[in-house]
Amino acid sequence: MSEEQALADAHARITDYRSRIQTLDGNAADLMFREARNHNAWQDKEVSDDKLREIWDLMKYGSTSANTLPARLIFIRSAEAKERLKPCLMPANADKTMAAPVTALLAYDLEFFTDFAKLYPIRPEMADMYSSDPARAEKFAFQQSSLQGAYLIMAIRAVGLDAGAMGGFNTDAADAEFLGGKNWKSNFLCNIGYGDLEGIKGPRLYRYGFDEVCDII
Ligand SMILES: Cc1cc2nc3c(=O)[nH]c(=O)nc-3n(C[C@H](O)[C@H](O)[C@H](O)COP(=O)(O)O)c2cc1C
Repeated sequence: MSEEQALADAHARITDYRSRIQTLDGNAADLMFREARNHNAWQDKEVSDDKLREIWDLMKYGSTSANTLPARLIFIRSAEAKERLKPCLMPANADKTMAAPVTALLAYDLEFFTDFAKLYPIRPEMADMYSSDPARAEKFAFQQSSLQGAYLIMAIRAVGLDAGAMGGFNTDAADAEFLGGKNWKSNFLCNIGYGDLEGIKGPRLYRYGFDEVCDII
């Protein structure tokens, strides 16, 4: 396909989907945001490989700076892998994580810049900015993978599952246990499954109203 054709095709796709959908309907907004809760207990129902692939196939479209996609995911499901995760967890997060059908370890690749030519072919030289400055690369990878973590939570909800995100774990221990031999670091964990109401111990907590935290200038 020529460059002009590819551009015309990209414009046609945007025109097409915008003619089909303008906003999330109320049910979709409830599923993704207004009624969605962070879950702490799980129904005895498996999460298939296909579901995990569906999650990635949605979250990968979330924007990242220069399309760098520095997040990496390890889906911890087997009993053996869960046992390896257990000592890394804060006690308060242990039982619910061991009971979850799957726990995603969201990590970030400190050498994400090696794929610039594939992911951002319009400016592959941007890789140098990061390869020459590891501290800058790490800050960027953490920031951008955190965004992808938010997309992960939203994708889990979008495919009809529930998410239980957790920062409460020893990242150094998880790095040593799961990321050995890779130049990756742990960001956060997210349990994935079908939530059980047993784990919801109270009503939705307060959220700031617009006027409390937003300015229009
Ligand atoms: C990145 C992230 C890390 C979190 N870490 C933990 C955690 O370690 N343990 C825990 O019980 N909840 C954790 N939570 C859950 C939040 O406390 C919860 O989402 C918040 O209290 C709001 O509840 P709601 O999402 O049900 O409205 C985390 C949530 C996110 C998004």
